[in-house]
Amino acid sequence: MTILTPTNNHQVSADGVPDEALLNRMASEFFALVPGVAQAAAQFLPGLSHLNEPHPVPVSPAGNVPVIEPQSSSSAHVAPVAEPGIAQGVPAIYAAALPHNGGSSIAPSRPQAGGAGSPYYFLSGEHAYPSVDAGLDSLAAQATGSDQVSARAFGLPGQDQLQRLLGELYPAKAVTATPANELSATYYFQQGEQNYWDAAPRAANPALAAPFDIHAVRRDFPILAERVNGKQLVWFDNAATTHKPQSVIDRLSYFYAHENSNIHRAAHELAARATDAYEGARNTVARFLGAASPEEIIFVRGATEAINLVANTFGKKFIGAGDEIIVSQLEHHANIVPWQQLAAEKGAVIRVIPVDDSGQILLDEYRKLLNSKTRLVAVTQVSNALGTITPVQEIIALAHSAGARVLVDGAQAVSHLRVNVQALDADFYVFSGHKVFGPTGIGVVYGKKALLEQLPPWQGGGNMIADVTFERTQYQPAPARFEAGTGNIADAVCLGAAIDYVERIGLEKIALYEHALLEYATHGLKSIPGVRLIGTAHAKASVASFVLAGYKTEEVGHALNQEGIAVRSGHHCAQPILRRFGVEATVRPSFAFYNTCDEIDRLIAVVKRLSATRRS
Ligand code: ALA
Repeated sequence: MTILTPTNNHQVSADGVPDEALLNRMASEFFALVPGVAQAAAQFLPGLSHLNEPHPVPVSPAGNVPVIEPQSSSSAHVAPVAEPGIAQGVPAIYAAALPHNGGSSIAPSRPQAGGAGSPYYFLSGEHAYPSVDAGLDSLAAQATGSDQVSARAFGLPGQDQLQRLLGELYPAKAVTATPANELSATYYFQQGEQNYWDAAPRAANPALAAPFDIHAVRRDFPILAERVNGKQLVWFDNAATTHKPQSVIDRLSYFYAHENSNIHRAAHELAARATDAYEGARNTVARFLGAASPEEIIFVRGATEAINLVANTFGKKFIGAGDEIIVSQLEHHANIVPWQQLAAEKGAVIRVIPVDDSGQILLDEYRKLLNSKTRLVAVTQVSNALGTITPVQEIIALAHSAGARVLVDGAQAVSHLRVNVQALDADFYVFSGHKVFGPTGIGVVYGKKALLEQLPPWQGGGNMIADVTFERTQYQPAPARFEAGTGNIADAVCLGAAIDYVERIGLEKIALYEHALLEYATHGLKSIPGVRLIGTAHAKASVASFVLAGYKTEEVGHALNQEGIAVRSGHHCAQPILRRFGVEATVRPSFAFYNTCDEIDRLIAVVKRLSATRRS
């Protein structure tokens, strides 16, 4: 660190206050040392113009976080022509993940026997999946409504601009304010067909009353100040992994500095601290998922290991020759391959729920797949490649009515949606810690207690036994039965800290904010000639996959990286769903609550530039 000292030309007054010239020099030297701050300082502090770069960057209203404003607000916020099927409203899906208000509206039809031939029945049958005409019903109220999720909070140039944008997108939509006293304390998106963006219910929701301080949130994530290729990092690869707030980073240090020990077995102070921290994290996860008990929470390495655990316990015990496992066309390879391996071993059959042209699951096709041989439905709640939010509550109810169990892959859901496994009635629910602002190498299986108690262990070893002789072993009950060996204690503890962080912000606020980001990105991208969006379901979370005519996806990814913008380009470990749309790869910006519309403007500017210089 450079030591800043007065020089002969600069004076310090008797009470120790430096003169303006000295202050300028000290500030200049200081900001030059801080990545990402130099541009901001240059615009607002006199005498620092030598730090300025071609595109000046203003600071936030608080003055302490650099926020990239659009280089041309008029062009960056041009409202594209609205098209059907692109609005990503979420009410029904969110309601599905929240505690019930009343009975289910689902009326499952009688399951029909599955067809013979290809296990992927739709490959040999009808290909004309109906398109979804979702309608444009989601954003007009925002145009004239409450500013609780405000333009400023989004890092947008201003409320007026946001309202103009949305007004142009949805000119015909009228806003009908509901008197606050007519609204119950339930979440606004539980209210049936209630418009997702209706201002009145949002205003009445106490969880959304406080403004969302994006600048404060960004300060919590030190890596967001990194510079890549000379530009401030823009992290749009959140579906691959999320960044960690300082509280999680600090929790890891604290564990190793003050608590480190193996758990359960040793009878000493540090073992007690480590055990308390580990079991405390289990309690936190149980509360986060709405589980009935922490005994329903098993720590594993990640969602992939979680699914493998269920395949090797539930699958081995309850799935046999001729039985059927249903997955959806949206699944990540991690929710396909373990079932294929099991099916190959047991002689079981995989059946696949197709999706429509928007990337949403076809429930009627799913109903046709269910039958008395169906043992398990394994389905994602949010597609990692397209962002589709699937109707898991309906999927689960239909499966149960056919006598099947359901595993929900929540890897892409838990950071975006409030999940309640009891409300969903999920039998298993899995997720990875690193996708919800926690560490890598830690994940979770939720399983209903009564079900876990019936399952054999998967791996054998220490911790999971009650008693061992050379003749036989007695196992612990769940969850210890499924946690053989020394687990990832410190990272489990940090997963608890990550969940605490997310819950302090609030999933409802996160969902609203990210929804606005996704809308903003979607409309920006689809206005660019040559861009084709892959995945346009009515209900989506935080993923804006696209391809650009004339470019390989890795070329787009490379051009974005040159500007400091991180996206994933490739098949996203979900080849079947990309092939459903006739592509092998997409460019996949994926958003988190620490992203801003200004960052999206930077991405749009790069894609526009590529589009303008297309080779084909
Ligand atoms: N499943 C992660 C992704 O979608 C790795 O990128």
